Amino acid sequence: MIKLTINGKTVEIEEGATIMEAAAKAGIKIPSLCHLKDVHTYGSCRICVVEVDGMKNLQASCIVRARDGMVVHTNSPKVRAARKVLYELLLSDHPKDCLSCNRNQNCELQELGYELGITETRLEGERSGCSVDISPSITRDTSKCILCRRCVTVCNEIQHVGAIQAQNRGFDTVISPAMGLPLNSTACAMCGQCTVVCPTGALQETDGLSRVWKALGDPGRRVVVQVAPAVRAALGEEFGLPCGTPVTGKMASALHELGFDDVFDTLFSADLTIIEEGTELLQRLQDVLTGGDAVLPMITSCSPGWIKHIEHQFPEELDHLSTCKSPHTMMGAVVKSFYADRLSMDPRDLYVVSVMPCTAKKYEIQRGEMEVDGNRDVDAVLTTRELARMIKSAGIDFVNLPEGSFDAPLGLSTGAADIFGVTGGVMEAALRTVYELVTGRELPFEGLHVTPIVGLEQIKTASFVIEDTLLEYKHLEGVEVKVAVTSGLEGASMLMREVAEGTSPYHFIEVMGCPGGCIAGGGQPRPKEDDFRKKRAAALYSEDEHKPLRKSHENPDLMKLYEEFLGEPGGHLAHKLLHTHYVKRGKYNELV
Ligand code: FES
Repeated sequence: MIKLTINGKTVEIEEGATIMEAAAKAGIKIPSLCHLKDVHTYGSCRICVVEVDGMKNLQASCIVRARDGMVVHTNSPKVRAARKVLYELLLSDHPKDCLSCNRNQNCELQELGYELGITETRLEGERSGCSVDISPSITRDTSKCILCRRCVTVCNEIQHVGAIQAQNRGFDTVISPAMGLPLNSTACAMCGQCTVVCPTGALQETDGLSRVWKALGDPGRRVVVQVAPAVRAALGEEFGLPCGTPVTGKMASALHELGFDDVFDTLFSADLTIIEEGTELLQRLQDVLTGGDAVLPMITSCSPGWIKHIEHQFPEELDHLSTCKSPHTMMGAVVKSFYADRLSMDPRDLYVVSVMPCTAKKYEIQRGEMEVDGNRDVDAVLTTRELARMIKSAGIDFVNLPEGSFDAPLGLSTGAADIFGVTGGVMEAALRTVYELVTGRELPFEGLHVTPIVGLEQIKTASFVIEDTLLEYKHLEGVEVKVAVTSGLEGASMLMREVAEGTSPYHFIEVMGCPGGCIAGGGQPRPKEDDFRKKRAAALYSEDEHKPLRKSHENPDLMKLYEEFLGEPGGHLAHKLLHTHYVKRGKYNELV
């Protein structure tokens, strides 16, 4: 431990802590802009400068380590003057069109101006150029960029994608893909993690709201909405509810109030995914054990950011991916076939909107593979943040809404589907069903949770031996099933290198593109707490534990869908509607 003095207060803290951390321990908040704990600690903006006795220059408190005996001033006239000029210089090259900016009232630069007491813009300088790049998922507006480089760090050092970097030097510096290419002409996974950490309106999801409002206002269209599991674990944060508050019922009520004709639940199609994916896994295992040449390990395919990443980075390994579409596109395909039949409607008059925690889903719905008989599975994707804006602009008092519910016939779900939104959840849901189908008994883990794969670690593994199988699965008896789970594209690449080298010991691998899974997806509310992943994950596990049904194959409405419409799991119609294929992509996103 070391002892230092900050603004006259004595603070004791572990050696190695920064001045900013020591100040926080003493209850002193130092203004900051580029710093983001566990993400970006590079000291690029200098807003956090402090005065230290005996040091000539001001020090960036987010990176300079506290030392024993140090005397620090965080609020001296010299510090205040420096911060003000630094801020004014940032503003001198900023559009200042806050009223029409997507981040109005939710912008760190704007909040900082208020904190610093800025009441006028004294400096007007030369403006760096503005270029707006609208990709299917992410919109970049370089005029709003303050060069904090959080996005560069998250893309390069957390996701290990490397789609954007600082280009040029000095005043001409711009954050962009190499050679100024548009994002859609790169190997960007469209995960949107850059939009979560951007402190201004420079990086945001590409607008989906205008199209959805237009569809809702069209009397000739029946507008169907569905919501992904992770949305319910985070939407409340946009309305001031504590992080980790599940808002399933209020969210369903809000969607009804917004005027959607049918409010369905992507959880229903998550249960459907488990039946299709579980069937595929069993088929591949059985084939390999009887001398066939099926490809193992099988890898999950729910996360479109992950799919785009593997298509770019490991194009020779696409056979490992499950052929299942992601749950929301499965729902879209079911709505435009089964539900259109039931309503005796032309599928072209149905408009399917998916509310997702994910920006990559906006890219996914535009893929050529995501349509059946010329009908797009899903017509528009809104992020969780966009749904919150929609609710606010409709004047709905979200916090005081009654607990609503989803509509039949595609609204009922099991707890297995809730945990799809968190790393390890898809694997656990699949194992709950597959193990029971093969042995006739429940998965032998307490509370149905496969504990080795629960948690936020980057890579988790589990194994178990299948004993006493039912007669038709006798050749699986005694097999030790090995599984691995990862979230974030760095961990995915680590597991894929083993797969590519032929040394992967696993039968089944779950990959989610964002660290922690969809709870921390690129379309989720920007977190205000360090342990937001833990709290949102707990919300989903609690939803699961409180459901009367917790295994996908127990969903009665889903079983009815197979009986009345789809036929056999993995059968002809299921394949036509619910399965897909993948394409090899080059570094400019071209098909190869
Ligand atoms: Fe410390 Fe930006 S917050 S340098």
